[in-house]
Amino acid sequence: MSTATVQVEEAEDRVVVTLHRPQARNAINAAMVAELHEVCAALEERPRLLLLTGAGGTFAAGADIAELRDRDREQALQGINSRLFDRIARLPLPTVAAVDGYALGGGAELAYACDIRLASPTATFGNPEPGLGILAAAGACWRLRDLVGASVAKQVLLAGRRLDADDAYRLGLVAEIAPAEELLKHAHALLDRMGRSGPLALRLTKLVADAPGGHPVIDDLAQAILFESEDKRTRMDTFLAGKRR
Ligand code: COA
Repeated sequence: MSTATVQVEEAEDRVVVTLHRPQARNAINAAMVAELHEVCAALEERPRLLLLTGAGGTFAAGADIAELRDRDREQALQGINSRLFDRIARLPLPTVAAVDGYALGGGAELAYACDIRLASPTATFGNPEPGLGILAAAGACWRLRDLVGASVAKQVLLAGRRLDADDAYRLGLVAEIAPAEELLKHAHALLDRMGRSGPLALRLTKLVADAPGGHPVIDDLAQAILFESEDKRTRMDTFLAGKRR
């Protein structure tokens, strides 16, 4: 499937989405939002891993400012980006953002909504929204705090601090830094590792890990489902058979 603002490659266990609006540094406009919703619908229907990246040495330079300028209160309340990023965050199986170059504004928020991020050496995360007279309303104000702590999050949100690849790695925002030309290879290797886990186990682990607060009962219920699964028995039998050999 290839659409106007994103390129989508589907494989058996994963979908690779490349943001592709090179003329606007992959800025997220309404068309891209709609196309990413289509990707989400497909992944909700048939869960697979998701790899999100950007074309042309940029992840995404934010929401499309030309569209933002004309949006009013009603459209802000529709949560055009926040609903999409929440949908991405709640996808059944893990999501990985491979960030090469700028991930600013909504682009950064899209990366924050993914489960794991990888960076190229030129990756730069930032939320310059107040400079445009608005706030980062699609998750940065709470996801970034969860990811890097309140102190650094406020430096980014309030003082315009940009996190380069080294900062992002040191702070745990990204799992690793890889040369731009090898970034996707590293991202696929990460997906390969996750793909070897039991899909239902991975799915329930993500669900439970994202549940707010302490939740021992939810954990036990999820485990109860997994303990009854054929996949669990097969995997444990395989392990034990290997031990006996
Ligand atoms: N929305 C709409 N268009 C954007 C855009 C955005 N978020 N970011 C970049 N573009 C467009 C530019 O207007 C420019 O269009 P033009 O060629 O018609 O003039 C084109 O993309 C290239 O951008 P340019 O600024 O010339 O590229 P650069 O390599 O010098 O700088 C950035 C790259 C990302 C640093 C710079 O484009 C930028 O600061 N973008 C806005 C970031 C931002 O504030 N995001 C938050 C939005 S809420």
